[in-house]
Amino acid sequence: MIRRPLIVGNWKMNGSRSSSIELVGDVANNFSTGGHVECVVCPPDVFLADVAAVLVGSDVGLGAQNVSQYEKGAYTGDVSASMLVEFTCAYVLVGHSERRACFGETSSQVAEKFVAAQGKGLTPILCVGETLAERKAERAFEVIAEQLDAVVEVAGLNALSSAVVAYEPVWAIGTGEVASPAQAQEMLAFIRGRLGEKADATRLLYGGSVSAENAAQLFEQQDIDGALVGGASLQAEQFMAICQIAET
Ligand code: 13P
Repeated sequence: MIRRPLIVGNWKMNGSRSSSIELVGDVANNFSTGGHVECVVCPPDVFLADVAAVLVGSDVGLGAQNVSQYEKGAYTGDVSASMLVEFTCAYVLVGHSERRACFGETSSQVAEKFVAAQGKGLTPILCVGETLAERKAERAFEVIAEQLDAVVEVAGLNALSSAVVAYEPVWAIGTGEVASPAQAQEMLAFIRGRLGEKADATRLLYGGSVSAENAAQLFEQQDIDGALVGGASLQAEQFMAICQIAET
């Protein structure tokens, strides 16, 4: 990998306060960069303060799973970018397929969230991905292009290429059916091709059933700079193994 590898653990809506503290403790204690891999965990918002406290002085970074597009005000239940910054988040996921599918987030809302995050100094991890039906209909590239273009229209190409993009095919998320390295590479090369002149520096992740068993083959691909890991990030050992594979 020519770019600094990035491994992000998306804990989704799992765990308890105590299990989150235990998990991040295990990650922080066992993660020694010794090299150049960057490792980030994204716990549920309510555990950010506890997780941040454990991460003080460690090399593991903190991210959130979602952010409001609004700065402040009467938006019950939302959490703003500046609130996340206050809890030492450096990254935030935007446009995760579960947000799009379960909560009806549109690409234009995702773009607003992207801008709100970057405006407060967070690095957005823009998640894009096609459904199985879209892939079968040979619309995968078109769908990804639409999801990227929606952000470019609002934020501009430079803003997108200074963020992180994660390709997570919906059919590979939580299913155990990982995209083949060739499929992932093909899409990430396509994404990189749309990022303009700074594209070579932009980190692109693959997500969807990444495990310690399949990570090595994925990371061998030229345009895969790391992973967005769901289920396997809930076990410190698995997650650390994936970080270690990215290192070597
Ligand atoms: P899994 O690794 O559990 O498939 O989840 C992927 C994901 O959605 C990460 O954001």
